[in-house]
Amino acid sequence: MNHPGTTSRIAGFHKLDRTGRIDAVARFAGLDVQERSHLENTGNLPADVADHMIENVIGTMNIPIGIATNMRIDGRDRLIPMATEESSVVAAVCNAARQCYDNGGFTTSMSGTEMIAQVQLTDLPDPHHARLRILEREAEVRDLCNACDPVLVRLGGGFRELQARVLDTPGGAMVIVHLIVDTRDAMGANAVNTMAETLAPHLAQWTGATSRLRILSNLADRRVARARCVWKVDAIGGPEVRDGILAAYHFAAADPYRAATHNKGIMNGVSAVVLATGNDTRAVEAGAHAYAARHGHYGSLSMWEATPEGDLAGSLELPLAVGLVGGATRVHPTAQLALKILGVGTAEELARVIAAVGLAQNFSALKALATTGIQKGHMALHARNIAIMAGATGEEVEAVARALVAQGRVRMDVAEAELQALRRGRG
Ligand code: MEV
Repeated sequence: MNHPGTTSRIAGFHKLDRTGRIDAVARFAGLDVQERSHLENTGNLPADVADHMIENVIGTMNIPIGIATNMRIDGRDRLIPMATEESSVVAAVCNAARQCYDNGGFTTSMSGTEMIAQVQLTDLPDPHHARLRILEREAEVRDLCNACDPVLVRLGGGFRELQARVLDTPGGAMVIVHLIVDTRDAMGANAVNTMAETLAPHLAQWTGATSRLRILSNLADRRVARARCVWKVDAIGGPEVRDGILAAYHFAAADPYRAATHNKGIMNGVSAVVLATGNDTRAVEAGAHAYAARHGHYGSLSMWEATPEGDLAGSLELPLAVGLVGGATRVHPTAQLALKILGVGTAEELARVIAAVGLAQNFSALKALATTGIQKGHMALHARNIAIMAGATGEEVEAVARALVAQGRVRMDVAEAELQALRRGRG
């Protein structure tokens, strides 16, 4: 039996108000007054908004938002808010965008804003026959789905297509139904999940199947955003740099170990804008990585080539299920501001901007890797974090960080020694 205050079985925790929850957690973890007041300060997310976003809220987690400058996308200049805890990410986009700005920047497009909901049907003795019986009812399916969301239909979205396939599984053949739904400016999870749940009993009745899972697919391959860009060879440091970037891409295209890291770099940019705009980072990440494996092996999301003129051409395609309405995007005041700064009017525009950011991020990572290596630039920024962790404040942060970089030793012990020396010198 745990002593009260040390057990995780806290009856009615969710019914407590935030102060009550903080009390309980403070008892459990031995938080002092200062630590409690840290949790009480929810920063620029009002406590009552936070409280309604998720369950059992005790506080908020602030992540810096940096602005990527120099971005020119489809002939329009944009400032890009990026929420990330990782140093170098924002600077990487600024640098990549600066090097292609005079050449016109990024060109983007999108395949559409359609989401897929899946319904799993099992226990069918005649799955092939059942599949056709389902497809024959497309008109009814359309009506049932559209009746779930008249607002979406009024906005030009709604049901688009019915697909069904027989899937061989370790548990035998099953029929998987896909509802293709245009969710317009919504990410669309709620809309398509409601449709799948509404339709499932009908599908079961029409076929005699047992209906099981009813949920969207995060492999949103009907919602693919594309970005391309040409960097003039002279603007990036010459043919050797270009060839280094190409070799880096060839490595990623052929090797999943490298592709995972290559794509992680792309997602550094993508997820930062997805998060800043209150969208679902995990949905986008799951979709991106599944898309990277769509040919049966995990590969690079981007492609790099030399143009006939010898310049460097990059392109990127990835599913980007993001929205402007619904969820945190609507309720989080910072997400609303991020959207205002971006100046996007539709979910498609947002997705296209994000794809351009992903490509810019990839360019900078590959260029750094192909030339000086990633640590030099990274460490310069990381040094500031180390300085802060060592206790530096105000102007001390820059001074200590500079000293660490100059010595090539970005380490906590060195930062502490430098800080002491600095304070002794001042004192
Ligand atoms: C680090 O967050 C991202 C990189 O590893 C990406 C890459 O290797 O392409 C630098």
